Amino acid sequence: MLRTIYEPIQEDLVKVEARLRSVCEVDFPWLSKLLAHSLKEGGKRIRPALVLLSGKFYDYDLSYLLPMATAVEILHTATLVHDDAIDNSAVRRGRPTINKVWGEDKAILLGDYLLGKSKELVADTQNLRVIRLFAQTFMTISSGELNQAFSAFNLEQTREQYLQRISGKTACLLSLATESGAILSQAPEKSVEALKGYGHNLGIAFQIVDDILDFIGTEEEMGKPVGSDLAQGTLTLPAILLLERYPEDNPVRRLFQNEDRQRNIELAMELVRNSSITEECYAVASDYCAQACHNLSLLPDNASRRSLIKLADYVVKRRK
Ligand code: IPE
Ligand code: IPE
Ligand code: MG
Ligand code: MG
Repeated sequence: MLRTIYEPIQEDLVKVEARLRSVCEVDFPWLSKLLAHSLKEGGKRIRPALVLLSGKFYDYDLSYLLPMATAVEILHTATLVHDDAIDNSAVRRGRPTINKVWGEDKAILLGDYLLGKSKELVADTQNLRVIRLFAQTFMTISSGELNQAFSAFNLEQTREQYLQRISGKTACLLSLATESGAILSQAPEKSVEALKGYGHNLGIAFQIVDDILDFIGTEEEMGKPVGSDLAQGTLTLPAILLLERYPEDNPVRRLFQNEDRQRNIELAMELVRNSSITEECYAVASDYCAQACHNLSLLPDNASRRSLIKLADYVVKRRK
């Protein structure tokens, strides 16, 4: 499905892959190995695709869009490498994680290297507004992840707090991708705002679906562990709804109070799977996708716009 959605930018994405491979070509063999392990195929490449699709409405120049698309994917990879070290997670994109194979210390340092690389690439856009936005996005992601870490195992969290957290840790990177694509192609300010709004709404839906799949997906499909949010004490939308529905006797409550962890994770997953909570969460995600598509209404109708609309549909249907 992604293949057809990416159709209008297929050739450019091949160039992004080539750039990602060339990032791995460094003199230090260990670094080269770690870079290749974290950057090689297996990811969905949604963020570079968003830069390229959003960049194709107006007067674009690939010599700016390509480094931006590459930078955004590398920043994403850096946050995943750090996230897996923080979560002590063993599998990513169907492969063992950097922290699992080489240790947490190497994961921290590789993440730092990737961040440096991403900033170097953004400088190639020669656009100060985009460079500033990139730096701010990284601060927002870090603060979203910190917010999550500080609210671990806290039962008193509202949907609003959840939405704010996922806006920081995930949606802001998708909106950076769309907004920068627009800026780098001389889009009028109204279109920049529209694409930024699209990226934000798509990003919220994307993370809600990721959080649903953590309850109902399988490690085989996802290429990463499931049930891990509850294990980390992260309260996501399905868990919040479960707490609202069963305020007294609730496996999430018991788990967060440190009772029989594994058993309560399994019970919570079973309850979410066998109730209407899954559908309710999907309905929330679909609303954000509908809003994302609505954001596109003032843009010219072209192949990119059609792909962005299809991407919104994909985000709720995905199993990976
Ligand atoms: C994973 O992002 C992190 C989240 C924001 C949920 P993706 O699901 O886009 O990961 P890859 O790049 O396809 O592996
Ligand atoms: C990750 O969110 C967002 C980042 C900033 C990396 P998750 O913790 O849900 O991502 P996964 O499930 O590990 O991919
Ligand atoms: Mg994680
Ligand atoms: Mg997740």
